[in-house]
Amino acid sequence: MNDVYPYYLANRAVQANTGLEVLDKYSGKVAARTAFADAAAIDAAISAAYDARAAMAAFPPDARRDVLEHCVRRFGERSEELALALCIEAGKPIRDARGEVTRLVDTFRIAAGEATRIGGEVLELGISPRTRGYRGMTKRVPVGACSFITPFNFPLNLVAHKVAPAIAAGCPFVLKPAAKTPLGALIIGEVLAETDLPAGAFSILPCSNEDAAALTSDERIALLSFTGGLVGWELKARAGRKKVTLELGGNAACIVDADPGQPLDELVERLVFGAYYQSGQSCISVQRIIAHRAVFDALCERLAAAVAGLRTGDPRDEATFIGPVIDEAAAQRIDGWIDAAVAGGAKALVRGARKGNMLPAALLADVPRDADLYRKEAFGPVACIEAYDDFDEAIARANDSAFGLQAGVFTADLGHAMRAWDALETGGVIVGDVPSFRVDNMPYGGIKQSGLGREGVRWAIADMTEERLLVIRDRA
Ligand code: SIN
Repeated sequence: MNDVYPYYLANRAVQANTGLEVLDKYSGKVAARTAFADAAAIDAAISAAYDARAAMAAFPPDARRDVLEHCVRRFGERSEELALALCIEAGKPIRDARGEVTRLVDTFRIAAGEATRIGGEVLELGISPRTRGYRGMTKRVPVGACSFITPFNFPLNLVAHKVAPAIAAGCPFVLKPAAKTPLGALIIGEVLAETDLPAGAFSILPCSNEDAAALTSDERIALLSFTGGLVGWELKARAGRKKVTLELGGNAACIVDADPGQPLDELVERLVFGAYYQSGQSCISVQRIIAHRAVFDALCERLAAAVAGLRTGDPRDEATFIGPVIDEAAAQRIDGWIDAAVAGGAKALVRGARKGNMLPAALLADVPRDADLYRKEAFGPVACIEAYDDFDEAIARANDSAFGLQAGVFTADLGHAMRAWDALETGGVIVGDVPSFRVDNMPYGGIKQSGLGREGVRWAIADMTEERLLVIRDRA
């Protein structure tokens, strides 16, 4: 890791200043400083991306693939540095950080494969005597300049899910990484700067939300892809004619059926992973466990024992499971929601004392359904557990949410699995595992307040391209 990082403006490293301090989220000390872009730099980046549209569209698919494969190689070579950067800037336990680097590599590798597979269709237009002799064909063309805004919780892989498809699709872009965790994106920038992407193809600019307003409103941008909080809906309202993709989180439910289809110990291991890995700071973290009464007591007992045993501490330590949350304000908010739930009648099966931004894992039973901890996105190391008697009741409870990103269902009953797939109001249903499961080539996105559109490399490429029709009249 360096002490100082430049930003990337029109493919070039620019050390305009060292205006942004990046804190080590565990020690609270300044770990690095990066250049911080102002409104003029953002405008220059948008102009460069706009001017690079034709060159990026003409950049051949095999050359796009080569750029992406270069990234795969370089990220592999720099994997430990990348993991350490995440560990420090996000407070992500080192084993989770290494897992994220693996997924970064996967995402670029998937995009490299897709770059040469963006095809079209041949249409039969001869539907009546008037149209005889006409043939139709479609191909996909890049939409143009894109703007990307990414959150703090996956500083590499949620950047990768926008950047890699954009390169595969032939779209220039301007990215604003989260100001609390910009290092991962800037290292990606360093690797992209080693390639022969056309001039202006990419800019990566940590900046303030105010200065980033142009990324939403500027009409030269054709597509905005935002991952973050509910403010995304306000951005959409200001985005004019742009295509907009939003991934805005959730409060994921996980149903555990009377016969969950796997031994409780294995299931508990998956629930612990799903609810508490990287301190629950994932949009698909398990927040609400809805368990059949037949297994409820045993599940509470084993889950509480497992959660109480989770090691909290320095994220650099290989044995740490729970590191810090992103800042003290977040820890205070989550702790306050736990207090309010307990005051409303919830039972704290496991709970520890907060210290600064270190919040030990918590598990609460029977949280009132109007509590913030049940209704909103906790984004912290806490889960709620409740009992149900009838499978349809479990589905209704899971759906009793303003969000709908992913849900998990543990069941041995194929009928219940199918019923869940039909009736759960989410973008994805994971049977036999937690909602937190994600592979980077699957469609990913939500309904209701959780967002709009899908990511996952192929789906993002579909979004970043549009169909162009060719009709040929064959007079022979
Ligand atoms: C997210 O927090 O939305 C990303 C989850 C993931 O990629 O695993």
